Amino acid sequence: MAKEIKTIGVLTSGGDAPGMNAAIRAVVRKALVNGKQVKGILKGYSGLLNEEIIDLSANDVSNTIERGGTILFTARCKEFMTEEGQKRGAEVCQKHGIDGIVVIGGDGSFRGAQKLAALGVNTIGVPGTIDLDISCTEYTIGFDTAVNTAMEAIDKVRDTSTSHERCSIIEVMGRNAGYIALWCGIANGAEDILLPENYDYDEQKIINNIIENRKRGKKHHIIVNAEGVGHSTSMARRIEAATGIETRATILGHMQRGGSPTCKDRVYASMMGAMAADLLCDGKTNRVVGYQHGRFQDFDINEALAMVKGIDPYQYQVAKDLSKHC
Ligand code: ADP
Ligand code: F6P
Repeated sequence: MAKEIKTIGVLTSGGDAPGMNAAIRAVVRKALVNGKQVKGILKGYSGLLNEEIIDLSANDVSNTIERGGTILFTARCKEFMTEEGQKRGAEVCQKHGIDGIVVIGGDGSFRGAQKLAALGVNTIGVPGTIDLDISCTEYTIGFDTAVNTAMEAIDKVRDTSTSHERCSIIEVMGRNAGYIALWCGIANGAEDILLPENYDYDEQKIINNIIENRKRGKKHHIIVNAEGVGHSTSMARRIEAATGIETRATILGHMQRGGSPTCKDRVYASMMGAMAADLLCDGKTNRVVGYQHGRFQDFDINEALAMVKGIDPYQYQVAKDLSKHC
């Protein structure tokens, strides 16, 4: 028989992402509508182990949907990677009467959620990461805002790059995934896009491309480089030396994780947070919420973590073709 849930806990873990507040708000409001109590666990698994736990009311999440970051704070917690840490986490839940937890974070956070579920705490994961690198879902909270922030920043770099007739290498986040780079590469009309998944990086080819484009009268050359490829500064030095064209590297960094979430991030995060609360209220555990083929769905965490996804080769080919001048 499914365990009856009286109190739901919610935490954010790993890198923050715009839209996490919308997800927290949805968990809180939906759980309250379903007649449950809600507790916020501060600073991810670290706050769980330190018992940094607060009561959350509907009022507490007012005026948060439009805010970037996470009102619950977030952290990475080494101690929770150990069996003792995980056992202590489950004990803290029991002590505070938390029967079910919603974990908002990335793959790493889901592995922690899987451990809590195995220890008897009903657990549901909600995908929150700007990297879009969770295989069971075509959407992750924060990607839309981050990719728009990066796109706008690259437009700005392009203005100055054109004025100075420079080559610009702009490095975007994504850890080992190239989704932000690929989307910006297309949206910003980059001349070259470097992705860790398609590591066909050939510096001589890029150099030839820059020289050819310059002969054709192009005033700038934008290279969107993924964090997973990296080395933008040394790359810029080598390209400048080989082409004689001034080359600058810009690493966008953490600005991509901040800011008010887009409409899409607010709405999708609200749907996912609400669904997570409903799943817990239905007695479900060890599941994650995802968005696939036009609808919100839930998956077994073990199966979700075993899924694999990658860059769509057609999308990558289109990105390359659209930068050509035949
Ligand atoms: P993300 O959730 O964004 O992928 P991390 O990989 O940094 O971010 O993971 C966030 C936190 O999740 C870690 O600091 C750790 O506390 C927990 N975690 C990650 N992997 C595991 C694991 N294998 N077992 C238990 N907890 C884990
Ligand atoms: O996972 C989100 C992310 O921003 C990655 O794109 C990046 O590699 C990483 O987190 C940076 O982490 P930190 O905030 O610890 O520097």
